[in-house]
Order: sequence, then C-alpha cells, then structure tokens
Amino acid sequence: MINTPYPFCNAVPRIETLSTTNVRQAETKGSTVEQHPSNMGAGTYLRFSAKIECMNTKTISAAGGPATLALFDDPPREGRERLGPGAFVLPGFALPFVDALLPAIEGLAERAPFRHLVTPGGFTMSVALTNCGALGWTSDRRGYRYSATDPDTGKPWPAMPEPFTRLACEAASAAGFDGFAPDACLVNRYAPGARLSLHQDKDERDYGAPIVSVSLGMPAVFLFGGHARDDKAARIPLVHGDVVVWGGEDRLRYHGVLPLKDEPHPLLGAIRINLTFRKAG
Ligand code: SIN
Ligand code: FE2
Repeated sequence: MINTPYPFCNAVPRIETLSTTNVRQAETKGSTVEQHPSNMGAGTYLRFSAKIECMNTKTISAAGGPATLALFDDPPREGRERLGPGAFVLPGFALPFVDALLPAIEGLAERAPFRHLVTPGGFTMSVALTNCGALGWTSDRRGYRYSATDPDTGKPWPAMPEPFTRLACEAASAAGFDGFAPDACLVNRYAPGARLSLHQDKDERDYGAPIVSVSLGMPAVFLFGGHARDDKAARIPLVHGDVVVWGGEDRLRYHGVLPLKDEPHPLLGAIRINLTFRKAG
C-alpha cells in the first residue's frame, strides 16, 4: 500500500467491469462502487478505493520529502527525441520541477476540483480534468471551448503557478520554440483504464504557439499520428517527468493516449497527471 501525501491521488475511481456479485464483494471490502455515468456499457462501474495499491511497498510520509524520492527514483534522461520537424520528446525534462508541481496541483484541485466532462456527442470522458491560467478548456453538450471562468464554480480558474509557466517556457525553448507564453494549462487525471481518443488541439485562437505536454505519475503510451485521423500513429511510451512538445508544421497532428495500465507510481499511486500548456486566447 502506498500512503501518498497528495489527496488528489486518493479515492480516484478505478474503471472496471464488475459482475453484480463482484460489486457486492467490492463493497464489503470497503470500496464504494457506483455505476459509471457514461455510456461505457452496462456493467461498467467506478470503484472508489480507500487506499491505493502499489507494486512498490515504500510508504511515503508528507514530512519525508516525497520529491526527493522522485528525483532519486527517476534520474533525468538527457537529450531530446525527434517525432517530427517541430515535435520532440524531452525525456525527464520535468523531473527537477516535480517538487514544486505536485503541491501546486494539490492547491488548484482544491479550488477547481477535477471533473469528468461530457462531450458534445453525449459521452462522459474517462479522463478527469481541471484547469489553471487565464483560460480553461471545457466541454459540454453545446461544444468544446475555452472559458475564463470555471463553469462549476462561476469563479476564474486558479492562476497558473509560477513553476508551471517556467517549466512550459523552458521546455518549449528546448524544442526550438522561444518566447512561449501559455495562458491555459489543462490538467488531465487518468486512472487505470482511462484513455484519450485521437484528436487535434484546434480550439485555440491561432496555431503559432506550440503545445507543451508534461507527464507525471503512471506510465502511458502516447499516440502521435499525422494530419488525418486515419494516418498511422506512432506509439510513444511516456514516463513520469517526460515532456512532449509539438508546434510549427506538427502543431495540428492527431494525438491521443491508449487506455492506461494499472502500474502504480511510487509517488502518485495509481494515477497519471498530464499538464497540457497552450496559448489559447
Ligand atoms: C491531451 O492531448 O490533452 C493530453 C495528452 C496526454 O495526456 O498525454
Ligand atoms: Fe490534445
């Protein structure tokens, strides 16, 4: 069991298909089970586990300095891997920022809680999300859009924490895009089984600025396709601390994330957090 110091990692629903008998068993073992609100099919339930199971048996205490452990566990990898003329993976680029990022995510999740949005087509997203910055990306039955206020609270989104902006700018520069000034940071939270189907990021006002995408927690397979939905997509394994940047002629390439495996991370447990920085307005 891992005792993560970050409440945003706790009680994250696990997306599972359970028979009626298994639902009863899960409930008697202390999990809360709810029918999934989306059309993922009958028999799909969200299981809210009180504790996070972890392959790693270390217990991390809040006082014990969790980020120190992150740095030693995941030494930064050097260099950059080219995915296209304007697209790069920067392995481990975010690791020196993790100490500052995690408490900041905790703080903004208290003010703008993670939620599962509904798409214009009526599907509930398996990824939970929130935002910070001047603009936040949201979706409902009327469409996708950026908004200056959180539709759940009516208040402005939390300001973008300084280490977020610094990481995004430094990563953009390392990929050849100087002067990046993000005004939107989408914070995606994945539980095992959550996925993001192939899409283009095209709700922004202009496509001159790159996308900077930071991975934290559980590993994922990132799909990086072409300019048409049917183009073959490369499968890019991403781990805690990796950053992907795409801009220029690669700015509108299709991308997505395969369903996450249940491979808990020593620091964050059974979740993956993705920070996507954009210049939206
Ligand atoms: C996104 O495209 O919004 C997120 C990609 C990711 O989670 O890596
Ligand atoms: Fe995207």
